[in-house]
Amino acid sequence: MENCHKLEDWLSWMDTLSLHDYVIVDNFLDAQRLQTVQTFFQAHLEAFTKAGIGALGDHVIRRDIRGDYTYWLDRKRDAELDEVWRLIDETLYIYNRYCFLGLSGYEFHLAHYPQGGHYDKHLDQFNNRNNRMISMVVYLNKHWQKGDGGELEIFRKDGTSFLVEPIEARCVMFKSAAVPHAVLASNKPRYSLTGWLLHQPSALGQFFG
Ligand code: OGA
Ligand code: NI
Repeated sequence: MENCHKLEDWLSWMDTLSLHDYVIVDNFLDAQRLQTVQTFFQAHLEAFTKAGIGALGDHVIRRDIRGDYTYWLDRKRDAELDEVWRLIDETLYIYNRYCFLGLSGYEFHLAHYPQGGHYDKHLDQFNNRNNRMISMVVYLNKHWQKGDGGELEIFRKDGTSFLVEPIEARCVMFKSAAVPHAVLASNKPRYSLTGWLLHQPSALGQFFG
């Protein structure tokens, strides 16, 4: 089957990721996939639940730390996202083939930060579960503008940080255990497709976010 992205693009993204531990890719989603996810998102908005922090026994809801609502995706149930799953397969394949990460699964959810929502500085790993290797966030925000807030703040190894605007179709990928990050308060509803490529597959993601 045809690839979603060109191999030379993937290779340059992988180079950046190896060098910096993160990479930002604009237009990661084409118009068709974008439309599919956005439509799906709006159709399921009622089913989103308050996101917590920590996995398993650690799971707690802390609105002061994290203000988003999430909807965990399931490949079988959410088959209409077929083309998106295919892109995720391709991503997993590329990481394994060119970064030797030994990824064998993934977990994805849709995330909705209502106005004022934010997420304090954190790593995408849990105390009792450390199989998240790569974090991926794909933004779904139409007409995002300066002043809308909701930037992703990425902290570099030297302690400095920079902001990434959550503009439509942009994808940010980073090493889950290596890159501390935060979401600044959003001044309007903020939408994303967020997921993790896993070292070992896990059913937990479906229940603990
Ligand atoms: C997360 C997270 C970043 C973003 O869900 O763990 O850090 O930009 N999301 O939405
Ligand atoms: Ni995170």
